[in-house]
Amino acid sequence: MSRVYIFDTTLRDGEQSPGCSMTTPEKMRMAAHLVDLGVDILEAGFPIASEGDFESVQAISRQYPWVQVAALARATKLDIERAAESLKDAKRPRIHTFLATSDIHLKYKLKKSREQVLEEAAAAVALARSYADDVEFSAEDATRTDPDFLERVSKAVVEAGARTVNLPDTVGFSVPDEYGELIGRIAKVLGDRAIVSVHCHDDLGLAAANSLAAVKAGARQVECTINGIGERAGNASLEEVVMAIKTRNDRYPFQTGIHTEKLYPASQLLSSIIAFGPQPNKAIVGENAFAHEAGIHQDGYLKEKSTYEIIDPQSVGVPEGRLVLGKHSGRHALKKRTEDLGFDLSKEELDTVYHRFTLLADRKKGVRNDEILNLVQDIVGRAAIAN
Ligand code: KIV
Ligand code: ZN
Repeated sequence: MSRVYIFDTTLRDGEQSPGCSMTTPEKMRMAAHLVDLGVDILEAGFPIASEGDFESVQAISRQYPWVQVAALARATKLDIERAAESLKDAKRPRIHTFLATSDIHLKYKLKKSREQVLEEAAAAVALARSYADDVEFSAEDATRTDPDFLERVSKAVVEAGARTVNLPDTVGFSVPDEYGELIGRIAKVLGDRAIVSVHCHDDLGLAAANSLAAVKAGARQVECTINGIGERAGNASLEEVVMAIKTRNDRYPFQTGIHTEKLYPASQLLSSIIAFGPQPNKAIVGENAFAHEAGIHQDGYLKEKSTYEIIDPQSVGVPEGRLVLGKHSGRHALKKRTEDLGFDLSKEELDTVYHRFTLLADRKKGVRNDEILNLVQDIVGRAAIAN
């Protein structure tokens, strides 16, 4: 099965977004988890941007010599030299240099012609290659770039020595079929001379879907972040991309090197470091991702988990599926919870407890275990507590 490389940019694109900045010791703690998780390439920072980023790249590449560590650099001499310096002790350094290629960026941001950009991109890659064998070039805003020009740039940077060509959906504008077409075209042109990489932002909520469409079309590296953190609406979420490939291997017959049971712990650690965690209904790692509240769902789940669960929670490191007891819950789930709490209720007792439970649940968002205990004890008395 073909391998898809997971390029983690939690510590670079993720870290540069509001509420997500990390100190070097915090990045080191996160890096330890990312290495354990099995990411293939770890982008540790943007060394020219700050002393802290420089230090983080240096410290992470010293600590994990067997890992490919990437440092970001604009396509300028100063940036590339700074990135190279930060990776001086790395055993597997990657210099990741980028330049915008869309007409919008050329006209308003860079004020450069296409020919200038083409030349500068190739020159930047050649310079980076004088410091490292492993060089990645990113065509910033690739999805709003004229495809013919993108093809010329891609060929030129590979000619200059890039081993990976990244075609980012920088502003999260693309949609899956369109992105797949673009990636397929460039992958065909480059053949086995370079790996085509994708880097999707989530402005339309399509980052994971776009990344998967790209993999199907020939991309073999996906850039992503834990919890999907990143600029604006974030990057493609690592856990979503990896679990979609694993769960729907029938449609995506690829392999990643990710140890999926470490996904939830990595997400938890990140949440404890930065200013926010994933929203409760976030796929894979959200608080409710494996919680069942509706009575019909709880009943089905208790009879056979696969009725309502497509992923075994333990396979992503979540201790167990959770039944949330609230106003949508049924008798079956309440019985299971009372048994878990040590009660063996008769049918009549359960009916009474269930009636009182529905009255309480109607007034609240969810009913806690201690409240259920109170209800049961009221009815059957403490003597009924099993053991
Ligand atoms: O979104 C983007 O285009 C980037 C590049 C620097 C890879 O983050
Ligand atoms: Zn980005």
